[in-house]
Amino acid sequence: SLDVSTLTRQTGLTALDYGFVNTASTQSEITYIDGNQGILRYRGYPIEQLAENSTYLEVAWLLIYGSLPSADELAEFDEKIRRHTLLHEDLKRFFSALPHTAHPMSVLSSAVSALSTYYEGTDPDDVELTMVRLLAKLPVIAAYAHKKSLGQAFLYPDNSLSFVDNFLRLNFGNMAEPYDIDPTLSKALDRLLILHEDHEQNASTSTVRLVGSTGANLYSSISAGIQALSGPLHGGANEAVLQMLAQIRDSGEGVGKFVERVKRKEDGVKLMGFGHRVYKNYDPRAKIVKQSADEVLAGLGVADPLLDIAKELEQFALEDEYFKERRLYPNVDFYTGVIYKAMGFPTRMFTVLFAIGRLPGWMAHWREMNLDPQTKIGRPQQLYVGEAERRYPGV
Ligand code: ACO
Repeated sequence: SLDVSTLTRQTGLTALDYGFVNTASTQSEITYIDGNQGILRYRGYPIEQLAENSTYLEVAWLLIYGSLPSADELAEFDEKIRRHTLLHEDLKRFFSALPHTAHPMSVLSSAVSALSTYYEGTDPDDVELTMVRLLAKLPVIAAYAHKKSLGQAFLYPDNSLSFVDNFLRLNFGNMAEPYDIDPTLSKALDRLLILHEDHEQNASTSTVRLVGSTGANLYSSISAGIQALSGPLHGGANEAVLQMLAQIRDSGEGVGKFVERVKRKEDGVKLMGFGHRVYKNYDPRAKIVKQSADEVLAGLGVADPLLDIAKELEQFALEDEYFKERRLYPNVDFYTGVIYKAMGFPTRMFTVLFAIGRLPGWMAHWREMNLDPQTKIGRPQQLYVGEAERRYPGV
């Protein structure tokens, strides 16, 4: 690899790289991806092993601090997070000021930005505490965004419950009766969160690093990352996949005709949940999610025709020259929506679940960047192609 910043400084040349296809913005020790072989490792551990054996909070610790926590470290981390789940009561007024039609991703990003106003002057000097607060409060804010869209009362967190169980209760419980945790659901959600925890320099993580490189605090950086994730070419794809599957079902046009429209690039229509900037063989997360989809739907006793459409669509695309030539395969988002739907989440909550998953990765990168003595403010170059100097009329 070439250190382009040194080269450009020495030669005065500027590298033009739309979409940063070939330009590394940093060195990192957090996540390794081999896109040709379909390998993903967090701090050296294969994603398959972590998804099978670990938990969301254990992986969060691993990403942030670089090694798996001891039993005592994990217990202490878990306990701290349980003690920080409550939101300031005034935030209720913040939620009530937003329209109930607001997209939960916008609510999430705005509320995280608002958190910095409550902790200004204290947390920025205490990054460890800020990370604990964010891990504890993001799921609560997410559940409130969900409840608000339904017009239902917010529940207070129950800190006797595990991270995932607490989150499920806040989303699906109500004031009137106790909420029974379904272990199938709990385990499946924990696994999906692990799969989303980091993915090196993707668009939202790069956003978090870029904002953080200016010296902005962690709340502001994460709030910007949530907005970057919301786009349909990034985290928003999980929502878009389900809309696409429902549209294929409702239109009755059939999978074959839909794929033909994608190949003709009719109205820019894409096969959502397919393709990836880095994976050109397969996305190892998609393999795990596809397997989970069958297990979870069977475990929850849900039969969803959208899962059958998704499988037919995948088969169709994998055998088609257009997709083969361009090395387009299902990415992590292709099957997650079907699982989230079976769990009872509305489509507009899907990307919010992705954001909760990705939070530890964002924070690990923000922290790594701040500890790296080589870090500079992110400031890309441009190639100016506009008008040369012009004279203002009459001057
Ligand atoms: N459906 C149809 N054609 C596609 C798709 C798709 N999903 N993805 C890429 N292509 C085509 C492009 O049109 C292009 O074709 P061309 O050579 O004829 O012009 C070719 O494949 C290369 O695609 P690029 O857009 O150059 O690839 P890039 O690396 O820039 O984009 C991206 C990657 C954004 C993920 C793209 O594949 C896409 O839009 N996929 C659908 C959205 C999606 O699922 N996003 C989630 C990504 S994973 C994540 O964020 C967690």
